[in-house]
Amino acid sequence: MNANLEQIKQEIIAGAEVLNSSKEVYEFKKKFLDGKTGKIGLLMKEMKNIPNEEKAAYGKGVNELKEWALTFLGEIDEKMKAKELQSRYEAEKIDISLPAEEMAEGNLHPITLVKNEIIDIFAGMGFEIFEGPEIETDYYNFTALNTPQDHPARDMQDTFYLSPEFLLRTQTSAGQIHVMEKKQPPIKILSPGKVFRSDDDATHSPMFTQMEGLVVDKGITLCDLQGMLDEFVKKIYGEGTKTRLRPSYFPFTEPSVEVDCSCFECGGTGCKLCKGTGWIEILGAGVVNNKVLQNCGIDTDVYSGFAFGIGIERTAMLKYGINNIKLLFESDIKVLNQLNDK
Ligand code: PHE
Repeated sequence: MNANLEQIKQEIIAGAEVLNSSKEVYEFKKKFLDGKTGKIGLLMKEMKNIPNEEKAAYGKGVNELKEWALTFLGEIDEKMKAKELQSRYEAEKIDISLPAEEMAEGNLHPITLVKNEIIDIFAGMGFEIFEGPEIETDYYNFTALNTPQDHPARDMQDTFYLSPEFLLRTQTSAGQIHVMEKKQPPIKILSPGKVFRSDDDATHSPMFTQMEGLVVDKGITLCDLQGMLDEFVKKIYGEGTKTRLRPSYFPFTEPSVEVDCSCFECGGTGCKLCKGTGWIEILGAGVVNNKVLQNCGIDTDVYSGFAFGIGIERTAMLKYGINNIKLLFESDIKVLNQLNDK
């Protein structure tokens, strides 16, 4: 073989020893095999300087060198790539037996849980949901509910007025009027929502949540109210829970009652929760005052109704044994985690 060819071959063998990556192999291959600039490629251009009788042997030699270099460097390239793939596998290895990182999971707020639970109970009795506005006119919040200007009962609720006409509703009872203005009986609605009063201590917050209930139909009496509440307390506080009605006063109901349930903590014998009385006050209610029905154009010779208003925060505090209403609004994760129903 031409001495020059042999020299190139040795150069390739020696150079290949020190190749470290497939990228280096690629560059090295180019140095010899590139058609225009590679050392072997250039050998072909030498052909014209070779004497005629040697041309055939020379050409054969160059081709053989080219074939050999392609195979030789091809094998090295393959090995290098396999090695590189292997070390990538090593580097990216994961231990599938490692415990997974635990994801923090959120849960519904106790107010939402209690609200949903109450809705579930009443929805099962055929109530529909109505949500009224939080900003009300004086008419819907008071006057239509038989509490005109200067009525002493307005002092029962310390109101945030936005203007002489507009206010933040103090009670979801305002929703009763919206419903009855739009719809003739039979009416059976449940109206949850935020209400606002200038009141602030351990058991009162300037913003809290109520759930209003209103039933208007033919022949509705206080007995229907009591029967339905009996069912309600059993479902929310437990089977053995009983109700008791005490006379009260609301301008929009006549008669009006304050509803107590037997203490679900001590079963009625007297404990800290019920302050030794065996009873816990849970809501205000009554037979809808005829004046309210008439204000909404409902014929009181044909229809009558009952209404009730439940304080959601109070219900949640009783259910979860919380003694300060602020705990429900501070969103302290440590507190909320303890109230998780899951
Ligand atoms: N709206 C009354 C309150 O906030 C509760 C209530 C509702 C009373 C419906 C009777 C009937 O105190």
